[in-house]
Amino acid sequence: MITIIFGPPGSGKGTQAAIISERFNLPHISTGQMLRDEVAADSELGREVAPIMKTGGLISDETMVRVIENRLGQPDAIPGVLLDGFPRTVPQASELDEMLERTGREIGVVLFFDVPEAELSKRIAHRAEVDHRADDTPEAFLHRMREYEAKTAPVVGYYEGRGTRLEYVNGNAPIEAVTESILTIFGPQQKVNQRAQGEVA
Ligand code: AP5
Ligand code: MG
Repeated sequence: MITIIFGPPGSGKGTQAAIISERFNLPHISTGQMLRDEVAADSELGREVAPIMKTGGLISDETMVRVIENRLGQPDAIPGVLLDGFPRTVPQASELDEMLERTGREIGVVLFFDVPEAELSKRIAHRAEVDHRADDTPEAFLHRMREYEAKTAPVVGYYEGRGTRLEYVNGNAPIEAVTESILTIFGPQQKVNQRAQGEVA
């Protein structure tokens, strides 16, 4: 099953995807992290995207669809994945639907993390002090927010129109509480499985 983790910059997508990925043994596919790895490796793709990422702009749909299609084609992605940071535009969402249809897969749920901008800005400012991500400057954060509002937020309407399961998660809560909300959305059986796995481990 494909789970999409969706929300504005700093809403906790990466944090929650890492927790859920470990608990359910699902690959965590973060397009932002994949691109940062390319930048660190100084690959051709990395050199192409670095200046755009640094200012908080979005990479072209064409490039991102190529990146994700390649990743979803790998064997570990076949049973299911957590998608963090993709799709980020309506064209990406519709390309993803076509891609999944071609390979007989579907989106199980889109988790939409809701967090007010003032809290996002605080989180990013805090991370800037410890992590030194190139796009955690106040200017790049503002640009990421405006890109999110203009190009990414409309993806919610796209999924509503398609009848894809969309669940709102209050992301403005402690990390453990957000995880608990996600587990509740996944359903009681998943919670039981996850507890059983925890007991074995
Ligand atoms: P990406 O890496 O996806 O960045 P983003 O969407 O801006 O989001 P962040 O990673 O900053 O935040 P997050 O929601 O993961 O939150 P996190 O868990 O880290 O994309 C980066 C760039 O890559 C884009 O700008 C674009 O250039 C490019 N890109 C990527 N995908 C693309 C695509 N599909 N199309 C086009 N371009 C693309 O949490 C943030 C901070 O808050 C952390 O310090 C964390 O510890 C803390 N925190 C988390 N949860 C909580 C909580 N509940 N309470 C308090 N603090 C919390
Ligand atoms: Mg992230």
